[in-house]
Amino acid sequence: MKVNGKHYRTIWMENTSVFMIEQNLLPFEFKIFRSDNYHDTAEAIKNMTVRGAGAIGAAGGFAMAQAFIQYATNKIEVEKAKKEIESTRPTAQNLFYAIDKVYKAGRVSVQDAVHEAQRIADEDSESSRAIGEFGNTLIRDGFRIETHCNAGWLAFVDYGTALSPVYAAQRAGKNIFVYVDETRPRSQGARLTAWELKNENVPHAIIPDNAGAYYMSQGKVDMMIVGADRIALNGDAANKIGTLEKAIIAKEYNIPFYVAAPFSTIAFETRTGNEIPIEQRSEEEVLYQTGTTKEGKIEKILVCSPGSSAMNPAFDVTPARYITGIITEKGIYTPDKIRTLKTS
Ligand code: MRU
Repeated sequence: MKVNGKHYRTIWMENTSVFMIEQNLLPFEFKIFRSDNYHDTAEAIKNMTVRGAGAIGAAGGFAMAQAFIQYATNKIEVEKAKKEIESTRPTAQNLFYAIDKVYKAGRVSVQDAVHEAQRIADEDSESSRAIGEFGNTLIRDGFRIETHCNAGWLAFVDYGTALSPVYAAQRAGKNIFVYVDETRPRSQGARLTAWELKNENVPHAIIPDNAGAYYMSQGKVDMMIVGADRIALNGDAANKIGTLEKAIIAKEYNIPFYVAAPFSTIAFETRTGNEIPIEQRSEEEVLYQTGTTKEGKIEKILVCSPGSSAMNPAFDVTPARYITGIITEKGIYTPDKIRTLKTS
């Protein structure tokens, strides 16, 4: 996608360095972060310099490739690096998908590891593009679409998943409007999705996290599309905290609820959503918010009662029965079909 007229991928690798859009600074500052070793790339995944299912996957693959570049045949160091990269974000299926593939390739040669990491990044971009085409077939002219978190191009290598159909619909000349859930505590909706949509001139409004039911009850939402961080064999889907509430409300008001995700997000070895590990993040993310002053200075401030503690589960699991369909790069499936895709 383009930023100020220039095409960017969210993350890419050149020689031995990995470059990524610094997402912690958006929407206030657009900056590229460079990592020259696997440890810094792993740290960037952990501190959310890079975040979102596909982008985490690409970062994990590149980090694994950097570990092979650094340690080549030193098996012990490579294993140590693999564990460190795996420990960064426990819910994100794409992370394990990419690490596993690059690790296997790296056992053949360092060059194979780098090629595999690049291939995974390209695959992510192409899958996201295809998801947009399939998803667009569900969108009618005039549709008002709600989305949660950021599953746009910043969360993947390019195009995105939940937002890819929106961009495809826009390119097809359809009039669309997007309700952007702010998505506390990290505000990926208010900060990232809104920034993306503004860049692409897609009409949208940020709504408070607790306003979705109001708009749905008023008949003002035609469909909901969200991303996924891990999809279990039975079609249960883990996504950013708050998604479950939206899915339950959407069902109450007969609003189609779609999950958009590539095959690389499907964990065929995870039988149900109960088996998906839910990342618990620091209470700091709830207690403090980062924003910019009128003078443009980025500041972090306490927004809660001083001395109170907070709990911060990063994801929840939406049971398959609330999901109308899963939009993938190969087509749109009802959740019960996921298990049949295993061998195809
Ligand atoms: O914690 P994050 O920002 O990495 O969250 C992941 C996500 O981006 C969301 O859960 C998203 O809706 C699905 S993955 C693009």
